[in-house]
Amino acid sequence: MLVFAHRGASGNYPENTLSAIRAALQADVDGIELDVQSCANDYAIVHDTWLDRTTNGTGRVNQTTLQDIQLLDAGNGEHIPNLQQVFDEIGQKTMINLELKHTFGLDQFVACIEQNVQKGVINRDQLLVSSYDHHQLVWLKQNMPWVKIGALTASIPLHYAEFAQRLHAYSIHIDKNFINHQFVDDAKQRGLKVFAYTVDKQQDIEEMRALGVDGIFSNFPCYAKMILSRS
Ligand code: G3P
Ligand code: MG
Repeated sequence: MLVFAHRGASGNYPENTLSAIRAALQADVDGIELDVQSCANDYAIVHDTWLDRTTNGTGRVNQTTLQDIQLLDAGNGEHIPNLQQVFDEIGQKTMINLELKHTFGLDQFVACIEQNVQKGVINRDQLLVSSYDHHQLVWLKQNMPWVKIGALTASIPLHYAEFAQRLHAYSIHIDKNFINHQFVDDAKQRGLKVFAYTVDKQQDIEEMRALGVDGIFSNFPCYAKMILSRS
């Protein structure tokens, strides 16, 4: 079962920051999940929706300019990274799952990805873009057909994993509190990977493995890997 660091190794470092990314890389994770959205002047920023919970700022990232965002302390004196800084930090070392936090114009996001692929900073295979907004995923697939997409859900839809197959998704990312055998089996029959979030406790990690889940998102990826290596 793969282990993705959720917002980097965010259990021990400020979430969605370069230090959380470095700690995840040190833990030799299979992938790193990060939240992405655009700020008021359209740069792709790596952060959750609101500034209040995680920084000394207030308000929404998408209503704040890059210049103001760069002044904020995201924890331990660190700044909020942009997408380019994250690509430079991770390079081709591990899978990158970018979770689009809410609907926004994706032109700059796509341009940033394509430039980095072209320059060889990242490669196509390591990238996975996910969202709860499935309309965004449709747009992305139309404009960047090679990209792997992950359909996020916090529910068990009536037709199980059918929605993700229709999206031509690579994977489904599902809340661990809703997942069940029927859903996992249905997704697998459709050729989809199943990743569960956010899985930190030993009991939950073992339960996901017993269900046949392909990967988990964990705030404590080092601990999750240790539990999984035991048996
Ligand atoms: O991408 C998995 C998970 O991060 C989705 O929800 O709220 O933890 O970003 P959230
Ligand atoms: Mg996320």
